[in-house]
Amino acid sequence: MTIILDTAALRAIVADVGVDQLMDEMIERLRDRFEAFDPKTTESIQRTGFAYQQPSLGLIEWMPTMQSGERVSIKTVGYHPANPTLRSLPSVLATTSLYDTTTGELLALTDSTFLTALRTGAASAIATDLLAPRDVETVGIIGCGAQAVTQLHAISRVRRFTRVLAYDADPSVAATLLERLPSSVGHRVTVDVVAAEDRAALLGSVDVLCTVTSVDPGEDAVIADGDHKRSLHVNAVGADFPGKLELPDSLIDRAAVVPDVVEQCLVEGESQRLTEDELAADLATLCAEPTTAQALQQRLTVFDSTGWALEDMVAAELALEHAARLGVGVDAELQLIGDDPYDPYRAVGG
Ligand SMILES: NC(=O)c1ccc[n+]([C@@H]2O[C@H](COP(=O)([O-])OP(=O)(O)OC[C@H]3O[C@@H](n4cnc5c(N)ncnc54)[C@H](O)[C@@H]3O)[C@@H](O)[C@H]2O)c1
Repeated sequence: MTIILDTAALRAIVADVGVDQLMDEMIERLRDRFEAFDPKTTESIQRTGFAYQQPSLGLIEWMPTMQSGERVSIKTVGYHPANPTLRSLPSVLATTSLYDTTTGELLALTDSTFLTALRTGAASAIATDLLAPRDVETVGIIGCGAQAVTQLHAISRVRRFTRVLAYDADPSVAATLLERLPSSVGHRVTVDVVAAEDRAALLGSVDVLCTVTSVDPGEDAVIADGDHKRSLHVNAVGADFPGKLELPDSLIDRAAVVPDVVEQCLVEGESQRLTEDELAADLATLCAEPTTAQALQQRLTVFDSTGWALEDMVAAELALEHAARLGVGVDAELQLIGDDPYDPYRAVGG
């Protein structure tokens, strides 16, 4: 039997647990897994996939990771940035499958559209908690789409900011950001939408900045370099493809850049213009060595978030645990297994 966590199952989990607790659990689980990360037992193969320009710019890629002796998780994720405006669909659509490494059986198939947003927010919260100052009053957000919601929500679980400065190339998206935030955040923050011509000043006014845009590869940085607080922390989330960059070179050059996955960030993250020896320690290392992170808190830091397949495994496991507790999800015989392992025709009744 394969358990399928469909939309109904995820809604039941969220109705029971609530988004605040679910985000707290996601942050805690991820932090624990990062702290305990051992490349000898947790292996991630660099993601790959198909990228195309027709009918519109997009990609479908797969992100595998293995917990030795236990399971393999593979997230298949599509990124089609024209989806929201042309098709009323999210830009990021994903599913994760989990396989048993003893038998090869498909254990579970889960939505990963919601879970990607949840884990991407949680990773930024962990980086913010490690690298940003204790007192964060104002968070800037550039790109106000789906991921922006969980970025702000997750950061609100580790810092009590009260003001958001929001910019999106499409003002109608920025205009609805406040109403899309969970009430625990929406009730205690003001969201000021920044006009394109005032964007340059945003950098100087924020304690934490998240860049979460669908900027196309080869386009200009989403914010110009300029004056900022000495201890500014940036979660750079949108750069996850060769040539796709959100931050100006000069800002990256003087920042301590913390990658999520070193090899991946050097190819498709903000770090594509850096060499490995120019990077600070990665996020998992900082979780295990918080004093190294503390030493970075007083300077400009950038979390180069490209998305780690391990995060998808942890998110799927969290959802599956709640599903088992609540008895939700659909059991399906997706893999045809008969009573004679040598007879495929008999298995199908032939
Ligand atoms: N690092 C990760 O783990 C991770 C996970 C998921 C998504 N992402 C990336 O995050 C980005 C955002 O994803 P999403 O699901 O929120 O997409 P989305 O389509 O919901 O929102 C993106 C927003 O960015 C805005 N935008 C585009 N170019 C801009 C610019 N130059 N300046 C300001 N705003 C601009 C768009 O108008 C849109 O509202 C994507 O690039 C995606 O690839 C990264």
